[in-house]
Amino acid sequence: MIPVTKPFLPPKTEYQRYIDGIWERNWLTNNGPLVNELELQLKEYLGVNHLLFVVNGTIALQMAIKALDLKGEIITTPFSYVATTSSIVWEGCKPVFVDILEDKFTLDPSKIEAAITPNTSAILATHVYGIPCEVEEIQRIADKYKLKVIYDGAHAFGVKVKGKSLFEYGDISTCSFHATKLFHSIEGGGVFTKDPELLKRLAYLRNFGHDGFEKFNGIGINGKNSEFHAAMGLSVLPYLKEIIQKRTEQFEYYRQMLKGLKVSFPNTLGIENYNYSYFPILFQAEAQLLKSMEILENHGVGSRRYFYPGLNNLDYTSGDCLVSDLVSSRILCLPLYHSLSKEEQKMIARLLLRVQNNSII
Ligand SMILES: Cc1ncc(COP(=O)(O)O)c(C=O)c1O
Repeated sequence: MIPVTKPFLPPKTEYQRYIDGIWERNWLTNNGPLVNELELQLKEYLGVNHLLFVVNGTIALQMAIKALDLKGEIITTPFSYVATTSSIVWEGCKPVFVDILEDKFTLDPSKIEAAITPNTSAILATHVYGIPCEVEEIQRIADKYKLKVIYDGAHAFGVKVKGKSLFEYGDISTCSFHATKLFHSIEGGGVFTKDPELLKRLAYLRNFGHDGFEKFNGIGINGKNSEFHAAMGLSVLPYLKEIIQKRTEQFEYYRQMLKGLKVSFPNTLGIENYNYSYFPILFQAEAQLLKSMEILENHGVGSRRYFYPGLNNLDYTSGDCLVSDLVSSRILCLPLYHSLSKEEQKMIARLLLRVQNNSII
């Protein structure tokens, strides 16, 4: 079976070395030395001023909404993972969906202003597949209407805009370090902000609001991550350059092998430090996608409709997002992971071409 993704595992001895240290110190969680070390290394790798390592990317989003004290409506993208919307709902706010750009699949800034009401408190947009949102235009609108900006950067590890980490844009950015992500700590996430005051608030939120044992600074949550998760992050990070290099090659090879296929790709041209986190293809018709998926599966190849359905179609929400609906009904992510071989990619490409040419049923 060729899965759609496969977590990268570092050499066991390297992880084991960190685990031995945990046994010696008997310090398993609660802001331990490995968590601190990982935060330092990530700051350096990403070139950011502040970050907190948290338990996952979903809690990171919820902490961001809480830290900014958002109320009412939050303008957001329908084309993302469900956690982007569920975080808004769990924090008692209402998601208001605005359609996406046809070429990049990120929030369309030209449609934001029409969705703003007196109840709007923020914009929460996703750098989907690691493709940067229109950060400058979004900030211009946010400044005009005094809105906060949160970026769900779950896919955007390492990507830059104008020489700056994408995580430095907006009031708060988040990332997921889930096992299936480019950089991972099994489960995990990051919260990023340039604002030291917000960082302080996020740090309290991460630890139940504790300000020492007997005092609290607001109501928080348990967003802390463990030494074991940090150990995995520390073991994976040194391999990231190699992983991205491999994915760059795989990405180009797919593009080359799929030249004859009637599909299109999101526009990733000119993205600084693009991370090749996914390989989505956009079919011309849903029927072609469904047939391709079935044939791939029959040949032991996993693929995923990432993201389907569009989040504007969830039960409790509404909103017309025609571009997003069209994209989500026709998008398919193909396998992409460090150990995927050229032969496997070739086989996947051939299967897709044969489906198109009706030469297999
Ligand atoms: C766009 C997006 N946002 C948020 C999340 C949630 O991250 P986590 O699984 O770490 O909670 C994911 C994870 O798949 C995601 O893809």
